[in-house]
Amino acid sequence: MGWYRAVGRPLFFSLPPEAAHRVAVRLLDLPLPWSRIGGVPDGVRVETTLAGIRLHNPIGLAAGFDKSCSHLRTLGELGFGYVVGGTITREPRVGNAKPRIARHATSRSLVNAMGLPNPGAEAAARNLAKAPVTSASRFVSLADEALDDAVAALDLVAPLVDGNEVNASCPNVSWGRDRDNETHLEGLVSAFVARTPRPVVVKLPPFASETERDVVLALARIALDAGAAGLTCSNTMPVSDLRLAAGTGGLSGHGLWPMTPSIVSEVRAAVGGDVPVNACGGVFTTADALACIEAGATVRDPRGDELVTTDVGARRQLIAAGTVELLDVLEAGLH
Ligand SMILES: Cc1cc2nc3c(=O)[nH]c(=O)nc-3n(C[C@H](O)[C@H](O)[C@H](O)COP(=O)(O)O)c2cc1C
Repeated sequence: MGWYRAVGRPLFFSLPPEAAHRVAVRLLDLPLPWSRIGGVPDGVRVETTLAGIRLHNPIGLAAGFDKSCSHLRTLGELGFGYVVGGTITREPRVGNAKPRIARHATSRSLVNAMGLPNPGAEAAARNLAKAPVTSASRFVSLADEALDDAVAALDLVAPLVDGNEVNASCPNVSWGRDRDNETHLEGLVSAFVARTPRPVVVKLPPFASETERDVVLALARIALDAGAAGLTCSNTMPVSDLRLAAGTGGLSGHGLWPMTPSIVSEVRAAVGGDVPVNACGGVFTTADALACIEAGATVRDPRGDELVTTDVGARRQLIAAGTVELLDVLEAGLH
């Protein structure tokens, strides 16, 4: 990944964050040898499963990078074991007023108040249908406030993907905090599970205090009782940032990292050993990923043996290095 450090990173960091993202997405449109650029060598495979879905490797790309689900195939070619498109909603959304992403470059963190901009479920379904065969398993994240809308969006995309993620944790939409969260989540997950045979994973908010922890663990139990097949821990952490038009947003990246292993550990202790738990939040390095594994982010391998592997929301900037290193470490421990 030397080319990225030498050329790509300085270029991206010279641009405002949303412009850098647009450039990155445009680059993915180019017919380049993405598997080679991703650098995951052939034959290095730590296959595993996530909620019954076979994965080439346990490193996933979290929701938010490909909100229109139009580049999941290329992102898979870069080496991810699974990719999460969206978050999408039934109708298109423009999102919040700009500026809506602020960098904390020195602490390798971002604060975003995107407000779920996306082209809507019909357009996302068209994009998914254009590239049906992918090397990475595909999930789509969904987050409508109204149950009817969420179900209509699910019906459009679910037949085209391997699984779905319920975004029960976006700090930039209202139902995540202002409504009766537990009832709403129970209703959403039950409705989804009744309508799709594919796994439904629930993405939870992070927690920093005992009170928040109790709320999140209650949501986790409700999600699982309603039929969720796994949990993603966690989404961004609400913080204030006056550089954003909204004045507040969700913290991502290294600033989240100190919380991630302890959240995974507490969620694992609360839900028991069998539920897939995806670690997500500030995972930059192999050591970070392994700390998540040790904290309890575990899944089962396809042969049914218990394995120490995890589904890690890997840092986008370190796709190849992180994948290769982690696979090396995991393979060394497995064979
Ligand atoms: C610009 C931006 C947009 C995001 N959009 C979404 C989204 O639409 N849905 C979602 O569930 N999470 C979204 N996230 C949160 C990420 O999926 C992830 O949970 C969070 O960034 C923590 O992981 P990280 O530190 O590895 O980035 C977004 C994050 C960023 C930075």
